[in-house]
Amino acid sequence: MSAPHTTDGAIARVTAFYDAHPINEEQILHTLRARGIALEGLSEETLQEFDQDHFGGTAANEVLARAAGMRARLRVLDVCSGMGGPARYFAHYFGCRVTGLDFTYTRFLGAQRLTRVVGLDHLVDFCHGNALEMPFPDASFDVVVGQEAWCHVPDKPRLVAECARVLVPGGVIAFTDILRRESLDEEETARLQREMAFPSLETLDGYAALLAASGCTLERREDLSEEWARILVARLAMYRSLESETVHKFGTAHFQRWDDTYAFFVGLYGTGRLGGGRFVARKR
Ligand SMILES: C[S@@+](CC[C@H](N)C(=O)[O-])C[C@H]1O[C@@H](n2cnc3c(N)ncnc32)[C@H](O)[C@@H]1O
Repeated sequence: MSAPHTTDGAIARVTAFYDAHPINEEQILHTLRARGIALEGLSEETLQEFDQDHFGGTAANEVLARAAGMRARLRVLDVCSGMGGPARYFAHYFGCRVTGLDFTYTRFLGAQRLTRVVGLDHLVDFCHGNALEMPFPDASFDVVVGQEAWCHVPDKPRLVAECARVLVPGGVIAFTDILRRESLDEEETARLQREMAFPSLETLDGYAALLAASGCTLERREDLSEEWARILVARLAMYRSLESETVHKFGTAHFQRWDDTYAFFVGLYGTGRLGGGRFVARKR
């Protein structure tokens, strides 16, 4: 497909953010090499320790997959699929056919390569495209999922409407996302936009209303804020443990900026201003 338009400042900010993210394909391959793990014969079960870019790792995939009723041969769309860790997990454990959609080209290419390495390309494919203009016909998928990515999408009503459009009637949309719990001041909002590439954040009630407006019946909605506040403290430590790889690839100044930004972001969970939610809804 043609490249997504990058004239929109919000889109350019997201792709720049992920092109310079401490978790990336090169870092994963470096870690595998450092641990003496060969690429030849690499399994999803080994790779999954390194390729998930959301909170709660594979345990969170498992909860989402079960809530969505994933099973063999269902057509699943992962909206904003990153390096494809969850897509491979769903295919490997549930036998689904999974398509990942992402507009950061480095993520899209990395996802394809990692999927071939673990031999799952017969079940998983990736599409380079924008979640706000999905390149799929109506009713193409049985399940739509997303994890900690829709926070980057500027137009949430359109995003949720696109997810509902590509679902079959009776299909399930199951996702988790970073949420706003309390109002943020101007400087915090500006920093999240500038440094985390979050153009806007939804609330628990906001997503519930958008799902209803898109013709979906909410089946489950959970507040994950406390759980994520704990996970994020560990995640900050994980990023700090990647200091040498991050400095090697992007330089010291970049590592320091990332560290400041991530500490600020985690702090907003500590004070209860940011949170998280899981939603499961069925298209009527
Ligand atoms: C935190 S990563 C999540 C990846 C994946 N869900 C996972 O758990 O490993 C967020 C991804 O969303 C993608 N993204 C953000 N906005 C997007 C949009 N409008 N269309 C397509 N992809 C988008 C980014 O390129 C990035 O790869």
